[in-house]
Amino acid sequence: MDHHELILRRHDAAAALGMRAGIEPVYVASHADRIAVDPFSHPDRFWQRLVDMYAQAPGFVLVSGSIAGRLIGYGFGCTRSAERAAEIWSEIRAALPDLAIPAGPQPVFIFNEFAVHPGHQNRGYGRTILDALLAGRREPVANLFVRPENPARAHYLAWGWRKIAERKPFADSPTFDSLIKDLRVTANWTRAAAGSGGDGPGSDQVDGAPPAVQDSTGVEAFPPARKPKVVDPPAGSVAL
Ligand SMILES: CC(C)(COP(=O)(O)OP(=O)(O)OC[C@H]1O[C@@H](n2cnc3c(N)ncnc32)[C@H](O)[C@@H]1OP(=O)(O)O)[C@@H](O)C(=O)NCCC(=O)NCCS
Repeated sequence: MDHHELILRRHDAAAALGMRAGIEPVYVASHADRIAVDPFSHPDRFWQRLVDMYAQAPGFVLVSGSIAGRLIGYGFGCTRSAERAAEIWSEIRAALPDLAIPAGPQPVFIFNEFAVHPGHQNRGYGRTILDALLAGRREPVANLFVRPENPARAHYLAWGWRKIAERKPFADSPTFDSLIKDLRVTANWTRAAAGSGGDGPGSDQVDGAPPAVQDSTGVEAFPPARKPKVVDPPAGSVAL
């Protein structure tokens, strides 16, 4: 086995909630500057948001990246229903008039959290994890919040995300830039599954895209971002 190979796995909510021992060290190391100054970033608060909100939401998925058996990065997100996503669509309409908006109500993929251990950053692992998380989503767009001064913001802009608003989601949270990414332009966005018709830029490119596969754990397995490396996943997790 190549001990430097990144192994991607996709986990459902139940599996993710059992992964604190692997996720927290990556969170703590990668958010050390924020943890030092902002109670909102305390590891317990981070984990409680996952337990109470994100893991309870529909469409939750966590993608982990591991090297030599150690988790070095993760990204997770969930679905905001079409009814609850109306405000995001209004912001998109106002901020990005060039972006074709679907005719009817559509859900949005909320990208909640993302980190790579500092010892492994700037090697392409973050982008690989994020691409795997977004691959094959049924929502037409993804939305994330990032502090304006976070260096990650520049990566998001380089990776095709665009600012639509400034938001303060919790009373004690910072004010974030709200960014979106059009998922319809990715090669394997599942337009047919979304039932959204020919509704936007890039919709030609999704014709003939492979359908999402439902696996026995109830976790959706999508075409992997990289050549799959098959390992024995724990229940509720899928190796990509
Ligand atoms: C944001 C974060 C997850 C990105 O992870 P990462 O693994 O460093 O991301 P990548 O390596 O894929 O990309 C980062 C940069 O590395 C460089 N890079 C990528 N692959 C490279 C390679 N093979 N060789 C050299 N440099 C490379 C690129 O410059 C890239 O930036 P760009 O795409 O904007 O040009 C990471 O910086 C992090 O954990 N930050 C702290 C936590 C945080 O703020 N999370 C986001 C909250 S919104």
